[in-house]
Amino acid sequence: MVAPLPAPPRPAALPLTMLAIRYADHGGPEVLQPTHLPVMPPGPNDVLVALKAAGVSPLDCKLRAGLLAEHFTPELPKTPGRDGVGVVLATGAHVLGFTPGDRVGVMAPAAAAAGTYAGAILCSEGQLVALPDGVGAVEATTLINAGLSAWIAARTAGMRPGQRVLVHAGAGAVGSVLVQLAKHLGARVTATCRAANRDYVRGLGAERAIAYDAEDFTDLPPQDVVFDLVGGSVHERSYQVLAPGGHLVWLTAAPIIDRSAQFGVRVSRAPISDDPDAVAEVMRLVSLGRIRPQVAGRLPLAQAAEAHRCLEAGEVTRGRLVLDIEGALDVPGGSLHSPLGWARNSSMT
Ligand SMILES: NC(=O)c1ccc[n+]([C@@H]2O[C@H](COP(=O)([O-])OP(=O)(O)OC[C@H]3O[C@@H](n4cnc5c(N)ncnc54)[C@H](OP(=O)(O)O)[C@@H]3O)[C@@H](O)[C@H]2O)c1
Repeated sequence: MVAPLPAPPRPAALPLTMLAIRYADHGGPEVLQPTHLPVMPPGPNDVLVALKAAGVSPLDCKLRAGLLAEHFTPELPKTPGRDGVGVVLATGAHVLGFTPGDRVGVMAPAAAAAGTYAGAILCSEGQLVALPDGVGAVEATTLINAGLSAWIAARTAGMRPGQRVLVHAGAGAVGSVLVQLAKHLGARVTATCRAANRDYVRGLGAERAIAYDAEDFTDLPPQDVVFDLVGGSVHERSYQVLAPGGHLVWLTAAPIIDRSAQFGVRVSRAPISDDPDAVAEVMRLVSLGRIRPQVAGRLPLAQAAEAHRCLEAGEVTRGRLVLDIEGALDVPGGSLHSPLGWARNSSMT
């Protein structure tokens, strides 16, 4: 019998426990419960990240509710959170790309037990992206999964300057980045949103805003590219506004009926997968002022259930809702404290 590997030694300064949000069974937001978990020291290939902020995404809610059983089987109990931002606390001996103190964005695997609604997370190097100075933690959090998704959607569409582009859900976390990206790439952008958000999406760079609760987007002139971030009847009706040879790019989990042959258009699913280079490119555009992060609101980590309720009730708009993670680590001989001098590092707030 092979003897179990000994646990890696714990550096003296590492926190012992952390606050985390977990669910043991699928259900409504009330299944999200605060708990204290041990902070595991990094193995040889691991990076231990103290989290500062976590994004609250529709995927987190769908996984919690058990709606994505065909695609993902989350390990239970599960800490939600697909993305977040933090600072490296410790690295394993084989880690070359990151050192303690680095500011990083985290892409946590959707189905893994460990997510970003926690004081810390153990990651592989491939799940991390270095963050540029000058982008705050909360702002950067809005651009990890949403920025990645928008970037891959834009790449899938292969947009060219001057093209007419319709972005559905232009006031959401992904859509708000996509509107800005499409504008940056020289497209003539129309976005759909609720009536109250028309000025908001125009402020992001859309030439025209169509209120889904007051207008019919199928009255638009023919579009070269349509980004479907909504699905259902929005997807169905989007065929009517595509120019011949146009491209419908979708990234929802809803079942889609491909009518490309009937309408003489292309239909592509944006193949979203974790890609540090894509996130880094989005962050570069933020540094250049071409993309402005969109923070829909902030709640403390302990109010994760309320955050899910708000998102599912359609109360979150104009970007990503972010959980603030402060004081969620417990050091030996001390109480819960801010790791690595968060309070001293104003660029992270
Ligand atoms: N495949 C993937 O890996 C992947 C990755 C990222 C996202 N997604 C999916 O993409 C979708 C958007 O994600 P997100 O993070 O941007 O969500 P989000 O931040 O919750 O945004 C949703 C937006 O949808 C808008 N909306 C609702 N009904 C609409 C309608 N009939 N027409 C136009 N807009 C409508 C709302 O606009 P108002 O605020 O103006 O009301 C809201 O802002 C979700 O379904 C998500 O699961 C998939």
